[in-house]
Amino acid sequence: MGYVITMAGKGGTGKTTIAALIIRSIKNNKLGSVLAIDADPNSNLGELLGTKNKGSIGAILDDISASPDKIPVGTPKERFIQYQIQSAIQEGDGFDILNMGAPEGPGCYCYVNNCLRGIMAGLIKDYDYIVIDNEAGLEHLSRRITRYADCLVVVSDASNIGLKSAQRINELTKQVKFEVKRSTLLINRFNKNVDKEKIRETNLEYLGSLPFDLSLEELSLASQSIFNLKSDSPVLKIFNTLGEKIWSHN
Ligand SMILES: Nc1ncnc2c1ncn2[C@@H]1O[C@H](COP(=O)(O)OP(=O)(O)OP(=O)(O)O)[C@@H](O)[C@H]1O
Ligand SMILES: [Mg+2]
Repeated sequence: MGYVITMAGKGGTGKTTIAALIIRSIKNNKLGSVLAIDADPNSNLGELLGTKNKGSIGAILDDISASPDKIPVGTPKERFIQYQIQSAIQEGDGFDILNMGAPEGPGCYCYVNNCLRGIMAGLIKDYDYIVIDNEAGLEHLSRRITRYADCLVVVSDASNIGLKSAQRINELTKQVKFEVKRSTLLINRFNKNVDKEKIRETNLEYLGSLPFDLSLEELSLASQSIFNLKSDSPVLKIFNTLGEKIWSHN
């Protein structure tokens, strides 16, 4: 069974960047196979990982739901969907990536969504790690993929509003019965000590904070992959020890 890491947090806090850092570390430390799932329709995880977009689950399901006659005669529908989804998985260098794309349109998706859940459950078993980058806000926490996470990583800034929002995300996971083994907090772009009382109030397990790092901004401006980040960059120096708390589970 794959170890599921899922990202959450307000817009622009650094979810995609940290998802990419996690994938880079799992790959570079040779910890096992990784499936990166981009669950943000306005996605850029693939770009940050240096892969080219090969289509999305959303587009495949739209297509099947709009033209069911495309399924070859004699091929069971579920097998056809499974094949299409398998072929949407891109092989990167040391990780695979799957793009969820936009959520369903107005057609009838019950059947394809049921198939999708079964197929995703199978995929999760096939990899050692699954890293899911989500859109901002928990209402989007992609339940199309799985309703379970071994480690939820809530990314926040250090402001009061940011931490309150992180706390709300934690409460919401419980309300929507999203099953999480460990709910953690990572503060991004902050170089000082964070007020312990405010962190305690979030009821999240505090992992630490990552500093503001100009090289991350430069990488993003130059559309470069996270694998081009120099190993002596300030953020990586800290992430090398802090990140371990996210994926170690023995
Ligand atoms: N520690 C950091 N230091 C400097 N820049 C950073 C840091 N973390 C993230 N950034 C930059 O901030 C911007 C937003 O980061 P990112 O896209 O990861 O946020 P996000 O939470 O995924 O946003 P969205 O909610 O839009 O998906 C990016 O340009 C990224 O390079
Ligand atoms: Mg993002």
